[in-house]
Amino acid sequence: MRILVTGGAGYIGSVLTEELVAYGHNVVVCDDLSTGHRSAVSPAVVFVEGNIGDRDLVVGVLREHSIEAVMHLAAFSRVEESVKAPEKYVENNYRSSVALFEAMIETGVAKVVFSSTAAVYGEPEKAVLTEDDETRPINPYGESKLAVEKALHEYNRKFDFRFVALRYFNVAGASKNYGEWHRPETHLIPRILHAANGKEDIIEIYGNDYPTRDGTCIRDYIHVQDLAAAHILALNALGAGSAIYNLGSGSGYSVNEVVETARRVTGCEIPVQFAGRRVGDPAILTASSEKIVRDLGWRPHKGSLDAIIESAWRWLRDHPNGYVD
Ligand code: UFG
Repeated sequence: MRILVTGGAGYIGSVLTEELVAYGHNVVVCDDLSTGHRSAVSPAVVFVEGNIGDRDLVVGVLREHSIEAVMHLAAFSRVEESVKAPEKYVENNYRSSVALFEAMIETGVAKVVFSSTAAVYGEPEKAVLTEDDETRPINPYGESKLAVEKALHEYNRKFDFRFVALRYFNVAGASKNYGEWHRPETHLIPRILHAANGKEDIIEIYGNDYPTRDGTCIRDYIHVQDLAAAHILALNALGAGSAIYNLGSGSGYSVNEVVETARRVTGCEIPVQFAGRRVGDPAILTASSEKIVRDLGWRPHKGSLDAIIESAWRWLRDHPNGYVD
């Protein structure tokens, strides 16, 4: 299939693109490189530098490459930044998505897999979330993604636009060639590994007074390649209709447990220090992925936290300076 991947120079987009190529798809990546890296894009695909909010550009790309479906990952994704600058999230995540969907309608491309987030649930009232649980985001990032999901429902109703929205929980790990390299890095696992390899002095743990088993936040981690595999199943299911799926493992690890696992995997000491809570962090976020397992037959293969951290650690050791563009 001929597929446009928006945000394909980002962490998840780079691994997804690699996987799509491995499955024999023809891929065009569109990315404005505001947070992505040119060298994170597989050399086997066409790269277009630009913002998906640029409707004329997107119309041109969809037509020129006869695109049949879109994987829409391009977005800002830092919760804390979204609290400080909500307008950036409205513009880049919501308005740009609508511009992309309009361009798709104009060119008759009516299939999209959309990267949504656990942040749409806000502060959950139960431990393991299912897709029909209430969505009450507590930060502008979650609001921007929920607004796009609502727009997708509207487009679906009006234009028979098919979508699958995948609500990511915590994604980590790496393939052999592509891994996580954000500047600044805010995510737990890469930050722990930067403390392990001496790039950072210490890892700060944000809050140890949460109502959890050890006082630190609990998150549900899945391997980035398992996440990519779910996108490919979603792509194949687009003909059958529209749906929303959680992507998690059904159980979580506390921040302390993640640090302990990283110590075991890396053999490094990893100094930690407790700090105050980070704004916008819910205590526990874990997903039931029963629906995607049942409907699409998704089976995570690289699931254990050890395996996730091992792959991230290997990639960082092979790429000590990340992506050098
Ligand atoms: N944490 C630390 N120290 C750090 C970094 C993170 O203690 O240096 C903690 C956070 O407070 C949180 C946990 O580690 O409790 C995980 O934090 P991440 O930043 O790795 O991930 P989040 O759970 O905050 O974010 C993820 C996605 C977001 C999404 C969010 C849903 O990366 O895109 O889940 O709430 F919005």
